[in-house]
Amino acid sequence: MKLKASKNLDTLFIKTYGCQMNEYDSSRMADMMKEAYGLRLVGMAEDADVILMNTCSVREKAEEKVYSELGRYKKLKDKRPDMIIGVGGCVGQQEGERIQQRAPYVDIVFGPQTYHRLPEMVKQIRRNRVRVTEIDMPEIEKFDHLPKVDGHGISGFVTIMEGCDKFCTFCVVPYTRGPELSRPVADILAECCQLLAGGAVEISLLGQNVNGYRGMGPDGEEWDFTMLLYAVAELEGLKRLRFTTSHPMEMTQELCVAFGEIPQLMPYLHLPVQSGSDVLLKAMHRGHDRATYFRTIDTLRKHCPDLALSSDFIVGYPGETDADFDDTLELVRQVGYDSAFCFKYSPRPGTPAAKSEDNVPEAVKDARLQALLSLMREQTRQAMQRQLGRTVDVLVEKASRNAGDMQGRTPDFKIVHFRGNPRQVGQIMPVRIVEAYGQSLRGELILADN
Ligand code: SAH
Ligand code: SF4
Ligand code: F3S
Repeated sequence: MKLKASKNLDTLFIKTYGCQMNEYDSSRMADMMKEAYGLRLVGMAEDADVILMNTCSVREKAEEKVYSELGRYKKLKDKRPDMIIGVGGCVGQQEGERIQQRAPYVDIVFGPQTYHRLPEMVKQIRRNRVRVTEIDMPEIEKFDHLPKVDGHGISGFVTIMEGCDKFCTFCVVPYTRGPELSRPVADILAECCQLLAGGAVEISLLGQNVNGYRGMGPDGEEWDFTMLLYAVAELEGLKRLRFTTSHPMEMTQELCVAFGEIPQLMPYLHLPVQSGSDVLLKAMHRGHDRATYFRTIDTLRKHCPDLALSSDFIVGYPGETDADFDDTLELVRQVGYDSAFCFKYSPRPGTPAAKSEDNVPEAVKDARLQALLSLMREQTRQAMQRQLGRTVDVLVEKASRNAGDMQGRTPDFKIVHFRGNPRQVGQIMPVRIVEAYGQSLRGELILADN
């Protein structure tokens, strides 16, 4: 499908915000625009004929951030009116035509489920100089319209399902990404194979709740997420398998067991809990209580004693009391995380929680956030300290910023720097950990590859 128009479009810049699903979508947009128009990705908006913003609206001030970035692009477009500007992703989906009302120089608005139509949209604009908005929610058709992944890099991402049906009261994702829809197993395996053929040794399976996966198997039956994991793990050339994000509500026994059984499945799990208070878990519509969460963690650790856990927390949800927040701190102490993301609650337009008064004072939210962050920093520090003296398998990812150093990841997802050689990229090498910092480790290669 070559759509090259008369006046040359040569370069593409994509600014990506938000979760890894957006990262995946951006790379697919790049694949597609390369196929349709031969566009080459550039690192700066200033050099681009087409600028796409892939936006996120999960937390505060998302829309304002988009408009201020757009202001910058407008200046570029004033000088080069042929330039095409598109806004996609979750803010695109939520705001729709409002974006072009406020920023008339935006040519295209699209959502997470319509970006496969970008080449067509670009064609329309170039023909008619009209503005285009495409934010309907087609039934997961995009994957059937995307070109093959342009496999490169040692670590690849594959979106296995779209959307979310959980409707946590604070969250926009079900509205911006639509309902949960799973890709067929065969499509996912084929995409993984393309990545592996392109040199990947690690694959991360992506979705807002991957363990809600229910996809059509090659046998015509519905497969759940654990069945998919076993199948992906068997692919030739795959050394490391990861996934994100999973929901505590759907952590089945089989999935916990898989951590002990699948050698390629790395011992790291991001399992957001948001709060340690039963009252809040209920108010947030999370679908489980704290006792169930603890049971899940116990089962996971029984099958995979080295499992590193991370999580997401929200402080200052409407009605959160000191006692609720203490329950959160206590849960963190009891579980023991390697890392976590902590957020202050912010009301999102259109969500049920936004109808309640945002009644925890800002100063209280700040104080709780600081208390949680300092507990987490201490837990992360301890997790790093525990690595000292260990020899771990590091997947070498790239040259580090320090000359002569390489950087890679441990099985449990910690960053390690060590003296190495760019030829080692893509290899898994034993490294002895000699120093622990706040967010990373320093090690020494055991077997130098000279
Ligand atoms: N699907 C994932 C989370 C996706 S959003 C899950 O269910 O775990 C990523 C994180 O953003 C959430 O886990 C939550 O901690 C945070 N978040 C989402 N909406 C928020 C809001 N309105 N205010 C503050 N944090 C929010
Ligand atoms: Fe949002 Fe909840 Fe769905 Fe996660 S599970 S994406 S927090 S609604
Ligand atoms: Fe953000 Fe949309 Fe992902 S709101 S977190 S980009 S699903």
